[in-house]
Amino acid sequence: MENHPPVRVERRPVSEEESRRANGPDWDRYADEYQATHGEFLGDAGFVWGPEGFTEAEAGVLGDVADRDVLEVGSGAGQCSRWIRSRGGRAYGLDLSFRQLQHSRRIDIDSGLSVPSVLGTATALPFADNSFDVVFSSFGALQFVSDIATAVAETARVLRPGGRYAFSITHPTRWMFPDDPGEEGLTASQSYWDRTPYVEVDDASGVVSYVEHHRTLGDWVGLLAGRGFVITDLLEPEWPDGHDRVWGGWSGVRGRLTPGTAIFGARLG
Ligand SMILES: C[S@@+](CC[C@H](N)C(=O)[O-])C[C@H]1O[C@@H](n2cnc3c(N)ncnc32)[C@H](O)[C@@H]1O
Repeated sequence: MENHPPVRVERRPVSEEESRRANGPDWDRYADEYQATHGEFLGDAGFVWGPEGFTEAEAGVLGDVADRDVLEVGSGAGQCSRWIRSRGGRAYGLDLSFRQLQHSRRIDIDSGLSVPSVLGTATALPFADNSFDVVFSSFGALQFVSDIATAVAETARVLRPGGRYAFSITHPTRWMFPDDPGEEGLTASQSYWDRTPYVEVDDASGVVSYVEHHRTLGDWVGLLAGRGFVITDLLEPEWPDGHDRVWGGWSGVRGRLTPGTAIFGARLG
């Protein structure tokens, strides 16, 4: 929601196609600023699950990744996948934004650690059934997808039996609060149960330019269980002492009181 042309905010239903048509170009526009602002925090071959800085080395949600076939959905510049490659896993990236993938390629070349990546969407994974041992997203794709049932079904399809699925998202309880890192962001102002998407419409053209979707914790449990996943983890990282970084609506002011990130871990039964 940063670096946008003038927009008006609406709350209304949007289709999968409309979400994709908005968010692909939006991430293309935003990619340079995103990498300039957050690239150092992410680390070229680092794996953080969210603005709290909680790492996969601490979480261990994916298990041992060495010698595993791994897909990152919404991979951005591939930092997490590069961390997996540095530990002997065969990680591949997929992202909707060409510009994000150009940044991934730039870091591949600079670091000498390459993540083979493909332009695509979470709802139509261009891979054969049973291709991967692990699929994950670190704030990638899922909250931008309208047809989340298809995205979860696609993940189940490309995973091998017993495979792991893990993803981080904005903690669903954050939906109730304004996207403000300060005191203003501490007063609940909308219903947790209202799933009507957040939509930004370009003032000049009337075109939908950004979409975010919300699911409750219960929705996620139902989605995963309904596709044969056994939930193994729901991590809610605490805001660490001395961590004073502000990332959009995430800050110490809010993070010390209420969770900003939810990390689900699951195994395909
Ligand atoms: C917040 S970034 C996270 C990227 C990376 N994991 C990181 O930590 O920097 C979200 C990413 O999801 C991608 N994305 C959005 N919608 C998507 C979709 N439908 N399918 C695949 N990727 C998508 C965006 O292009 C963007 O690169």
